[in-house]
Amino acid sequence: MTQTFKFASKVFHRGLWAPERGADSAPRSLAHIPGPSTPGFLVELFCKGGLSRLHELQVQGAARFGPVWLASFGTVRTVYVAAPALVEQLLRQEGPQPERCSFSPWTEHRRHRQRACGLLTAEGEEWQRLRSLLAPLLLRPQAATRYAGALDDVVGDLVLRLRRQRGLCAGPPTLVQDVAGEFYKFGLEGIAAVLLGSRLGCLEAQVPPDTETFIRAVGSVFVSTLLTMAMPKWLHRLVPGPWGRLCRDWDQMFAFAQQHVEERVAEMTMRNQGQLEGDPGPVSHLTYHLLREKLPVPSILGNVTELLLAGVDTVSNTLSWALYELARHPDVQRALHTEITAALGPSSCAHSPAALSQLPLLKAVVKEVLRLYPVVPGNSRVPDKDIRVGDYVLPKNTLVTLCHYATSRDPAQFSEPDSFRPARWLGEDPAPHPFASLPFGFGKRSCMGRRLAELELQMALAQILIHFEVLPEPGAAPIRPMTRTVLVPERSINLQFVDR
Ligand code: HEM
Repeated sequence: MTQTFKFASKVFHRGLWAPERGADSAPRSLAHIPGPSTPGFLVELFCKGGLSRLHELQVQGAARFGPVWLASFGTVRTVYVAAPALVEQLLRQEGPQPERCSFSPWTEHRRHRQRACGLLTAEGEEWQRLRSLLAPLLLRPQAATRYAGALDDVVGDLVLRLRRQRGLCAGPPTLVQDVAGEFYKFGLEGIAAVLLGSRLGCLEAQVPPDTETFIRAVGSVFVSTLLTMAMPKWLHRLVPGPWGRLCRDWDQMFAFAQQHVEERVAEMTMRNQGQLEGDPGPVSHLTYHLLREKLPVPSILGNVTELLLAGVDTVSNTLSWALYELARHPDVQRALHTEITAALGPSSCAHSPAALSQLPLLKAVVKEVLRLYPVVPGNSRVPDKDIRVGDYVLPKNTLVTLCHYATSRDPAQFSEPDSFRPARWLGEDPAPHPFASLPFGFGKRSCMGRRLAELELQMALAQILIHFEVLPEPGAAPIRPMTRTVLVPERSINLQFVDR
């Protein structure tokens, strides 16, 4: 396309959604929504590496077509929405049981293997039942603090592990390679402590092989998910690789969770029969509460497996990006260290969730990291009725992609949108639209692990900064994000951890 045509096309497409059309003008149908041609988009996805740049395609799509455009992702046709006000308009029309994705290969796996869905993949009434059961156990602020003791031990082991991992390879003696790999182990150890009350040994010198398998499966399932979604179903027979890998990965994750859930069920049975010797103390892991609520074991297994998956990549990538940015911004790191030590003491190993939640810079750092690197760069919804979004009416059952990455880097919302500036959340800049940065989603279907994730991130950042000054790898080039269903660093982040 020549520059002139590109410009003309932009003006034309912008004309279709121009706000001056007015709120009372007749809404337009899907047929009027601009977007790339299907062959062009497929070439972009499969020949130009677009699958790993889906987040950038959001920004490009908004620049080229305006805040609403339509494209086919393989066989899936989706409307992209990339303006905070329109994201809000859409989410505020949600029904009582919002649906996230009409075709999910994960749901397909559960059907194939006759496994129960967990909260991530369940829909309709089943989802609502699970949500009402889990929310009081995980989402209420007091519920998350119940797990602080278990998380404290895990954070303590993370600090020991970072010390041990220093200097194991070329570079300065304080260098830890691939911090995301270390934080994966931390994420799994933390979520397993909360869900199962078990310590898996992920942060020991030798990581147990089944734990390594689980971590590998989590990474791999995100890659095969994107490929499987983009391929038409009939192609699965001709090119069975992605679907086969997806099933293998989920099977491995289910097997891992099953072993631990069965141990907890056996313990509970013995406890009920008075066969447990000694007082095991108060039990506060989630599986115990779900067993007490009489949730059937297959459903507990579906939920524990999905929560394990949801708890690993999300927390670990956010923590990696947070330390990457703090290492590149020593002034922010210094101010944060001062804030933390003033509140907790210079060598404190214990965390009071209440004290942590009062630290404004710590909260602003987490918000800013999630704005720049939203783990879920594009979320989705499938409306259960016709809804209006901007100038258009989207028919019931249309898959809509919410472009959180594009809105959270929108210069109209955030000055210097690509810069790490936590102070913007502390009143330095005018407040952005409340739907511009929505890292945990919104409404009835929002993230179930939000409180837990925030607590884990605050605890880990506080302890790491109390013990270490974090420095970049000497001479390392900047690292960009890439999409692997979730947003991850495009290559290993290596950082120095210097004892304070
Ligand atoms: C930085 C950490 C995290 C981020 C940024 C994050 C983000 C998200 C987002 C964007 C959604 C979709 C929300 C929506 O559709 O409106 C979601 C859903 C979900 N998250 Fe998280 N998450 C994080 C950590 C966790 C953790 C630690 C857990 C596990 C305890 C978890 C469990 C879930 C579950 C179960 C859902 C599905 C909720 C439902 O469908 O009702 N997340 N998360």
